[in-house]
Amino acid sequence: MKATAVAPANIAFIKYWGKKDAEQRLAYNDSISMNLSACLTTVTVDFSEKYRQDEVDLKLAESRVVEHLERIRRRAKKRLFARVASRTNFPIAAGIASSASFFAALSLAASQAIGLNLPEKTLSEIARLGSGSACRSIPDGFVKWQGTAARSLYKEDYWDLRDIVIIVSSKIKKDGSSSGMAGVLTSPLFPARLKNLPSRLARLEKALQQKNFPSFGEIIEAEALELHQVMMTQKPPFFYLQPKTWEIINRVFEWRHLGLPVYFTIDAGPNPHLIIEGKNSVRLQQQLKSLKDIEGIIDNQPAKGARLSEKHLF
Ligand code: DP6
Repeated sequence: MKATAVAPANIAFIKYWGKKDAEQRLAYNDSISMNLSACLTTVTVDFSEKYRQDEVDLKLAESRVVEHLERIRRRAKKRLFARVASRTNFPIAAGIASSASFFAALSLAASQAIGLNLPEKTLSEIARLGSGSACRSIPDGFVKWQGTAARSLYKEDYWDLRDIVIIVSSKIKKDGSSSGMAGVLTSPLFPARLKNLPSRLARLEKALQQKNFPSFGEIIEAEALELHQVMMTQKPPFFYLQPKTWEIINRVFEWRHLGLPVYFTIDAGPNPHLIIEGKNSVRLQQQLKSLKDIEGIIDNQPAKGARLSEKHLF
C-alpha cells in the first residue's frame, strides 16, 4: 500500500489571505494561480500494519501531517498507520508555497496508497484542508480556487509565461501564512480589498483570456502590493519584505521603463517572483546578471498539477 506523488508549488496572481472558516480552510475570496515547473515536492506514503504510529520524517509541522493522514483514513474507513517521506527541491517556508506542493502531493499519494481513486475535484478539496493554497496545486496549469475546490482555467501550454523567483533569503520565515492571515480582519484595509476583489478577478481573467500581458502585469503588481499593505496594517502587523526585496522591485520598474515588459508578485516571504513572457526571458536573464548578493534564481514555466510517480523515496 505504497504510492508516490509529485506536486508543484504555485504562485498566486490573485491571493488567498484570510479564512472565513478556519477549520474548513474556506477563503474569503477566490484566487488564481499558476503551477511552477521547477518547484516540486515528492511525497511517498506507505500504509502498513507494521507501523505502530504514523512515522513522518519532515521539518514541516508533524501534527498537521498526521491530521491530514487521519482525514484520508476516515474517508477510506481503514485503520492503518503510515510512513511518510518527502523531498522538496526548493527552499521551504520562504514564501514559495512549499506547504501547497507538500499537501497536494501528500493528498494524492496517501489517497492512492490507501486505495481511494478520487476525482480531481475531491482531491483538491482534501488538499485544501491541509493548506488552503494546496488545492490549487492539484489541477494543471493556470488554476482558479473558488469555494471548496480549484479547477484548471487553462492547461500549462496555454501561455508561455515565466516566473523567475529571486531568492533573496532562503531562511525559514518566522511567521507562517496561517498565523499571519489569522489577523486579517484587524486590517482597516481588508473590507475595501474584499469589495474590490470581484472586479480585479474579472479583469485578471479577461487579461488571461486575451493574453494581454501589460494588463495582466499591472493587475498582479497592484494585487501583491495590496496584500502586503493589508499584512502591514494588521494588528499585530506582519512584515515579509526585506530591503533587498524593495531593491528588486525598483529594478523591475527601471527595466520596464527601459522597455522590458516584466512585472512582479510576492507571497508571504521576501522573495520576489518576476513574471515575464517566454519571448522576453533571455533579455531579463541578461539583466539579472547584474544583481548582487542574492542566494539564487529559480526559473519556472507553467506546469501540470499533482501526478503519480513510480519513483518511491523508500
Ligand atoms: C500569501 O495556503 O500557506 O501565499 O491555508 O493557512 O496553510 P494555510 O495558508 P497558505 O497561504 C498562502 C498565502 C499566500 C497567498 C496565496 O498563495 O494565495
